[in-house]
Amino acid sequence: MIAHYGWLAAVPHTGREKCTINIGDGTYIGRFCHIYATSKIDIGTKVIMADKVYISDNLHGYEDISMPVIDQPVFQSNEVSIGEGSWIGENVCIIGAEIGKHCIIGANAVVTKNIPDYSIAVGIPAKISKRYNFETKQWQKTNAEGEFI
Ligand SMILES: CC(C)(COP(=O)(O)OP(=O)(O)OC[C@H]1O[C@@H](n2cnc3c(N)ncnc32)[C@H](O)[C@@H]1OP(=O)(O)O)[C@@H](O)C(=O)NCCC(=O)NCCS
Repeated sequence: MIAHYGWLAAVPHTGREKCTINIGDGTYIGRFCHIYATSKIDIGTKVIMADKVYISDNLHGYEDISMPVIDQPVFQSNEVSIGEGSWIGENVCIIGAEIGKHCIIGANAVVTKNIPDYSIAVGIPAKISKRYNFETKQWQKTNAEGEFI
């Protein structure tokens, strides 16, 4: 399900031969999503995504100060993936990063680094705040490196 006013594009601006957005079965994408792949964005099965989520595997180049950013080549960042069963909060941006399965990304987070399976991450830049502890069978607070505290 992709709700109203979404913008999904897979355009090989950076010269990749193959350029794809894959969306797994049972995934819900909220309103006003902006998902733009120049290489690969994989969204797993049964992901829930709130409104106004931005996902991309690329950035505008900005190195040349004699040229407006709009005229500079698009720069390829890392491929993006979101694991099955994850929950992406309102206004989240995911830029060139992988999110594991059954993760929770808090509202307004900006994810630029990979987040491992069964983690909660919040903030700008997004840092791990909790992980599921399979010994205690509970979500437990962690430091930003994901170590239980
Ligand atoms: C992240 C979220 C799921 C709560 O996670 P949680 O770990 O169960 O929440 P807690 O209340 O235990 O908070 C843990 C810490 O994270 C902080 N935190 C929670 N959500 C946060 C957010 N979105 N951004 C920044 N910090 C956040 C809390 O303030 C708390 O900080 P502290 O340890 O310094 O006190 C929730 O706050 C959230 O953002 N949900 C998304 C809501 C949404 O977008 N819904 C749209 C409908 S699908």
